[in-house]
Amino acid sequence: MIGVFDSGLGGLSVLAAIARALPRADLAYYADTAHVPYGSKPDDFIRERVLTIGRHLAALNCKVIVVACNTATAAAVDALRQALPHIPVVGVEPGIKPAAAASRSRHIAVLATESTARSERLAKLIHTHATSVKVQVEPCPGWATRVESLQLDGAEFAAEVAAKVSPLLLAGADQLVLGCTHYSFLSPLLQPLVDGRAELVDVADAVARQVLRLSGAHAEGHATLKLFASAHPERLHAALPRLGLHWLAERANSAMLHHA
Ligand code: DGL
Repeated sequence: MIGVFDSGLGGLSVLAAIARALPRADLAYYADTAHVPYGSKPDDFIRERVLTIGRHLAALNCKVIVVACNTATAAAVDALRQALPHIPVVGVEPGIKPAAAASRSRHIAVLATESTARSERLAKLIHTHATSVKVQVEPCPGWATRVESLQLDGAEFAAEVAAKVSPLLLAGADQLVLGCTHYSFLSPLLQPLVDGRAELVDVADAVARQVLRLSGAHAEGHATLKLFASAHPERLHAALPRLGLHWLAERANSAMLHHA
């Protein structure tokens, strides 16, 4: 089994890419809905949650663990690898490298949680892969919570998103890195704003390819999906069709919902 987790619904964008890349794998998804959002919380708190969930997935016999959250990766992927030395752990980091490589204006922007935006790991990633381009990092407080509420079509929120993105485009950014897995679900709002002027950069498919490389025989299973949530597990299953993931909801029908 391959275990995937996030603070809430955001990691479902990564889970969907993994399920497409490994259609027969047995998958487990854990949403830490009792503690979402992570992005406004201190590193120590996030690290403790990541270790608890990682151990839980290891106890379920997961052979690969995917931290489907930029915030949790920045704060705690090293600690998780140390705690579980025999299990490959795949983290998710903002696509700075592909964005820098693709940028023609030599100006990229990163949308992320407050925690990721101020993290040392993001600073290092920029230093390693994007020294020759201008990088604008924009914290987006409240956006992940908005995705959790599944209310993505309000005019007020659309205006908030436009107010964040328009100045970046006006300043010349031609790559908009989605540095939080929740923001994949904001593509319907973001795409019309950037159309023709910038590209959205999402690493979900690249992460899925990495999982495929590491999973070996565990790519072949019975195509089951187990859903776990630390609060309101029934909402997790119900959220799948609301996020355009009907096909994943069908896969989850073969499994039960679990509290964890
Ligand atoms: N989905 C997460 C990320 O990729 C975290 C969102 C949150 O809980 O603040 O950063």
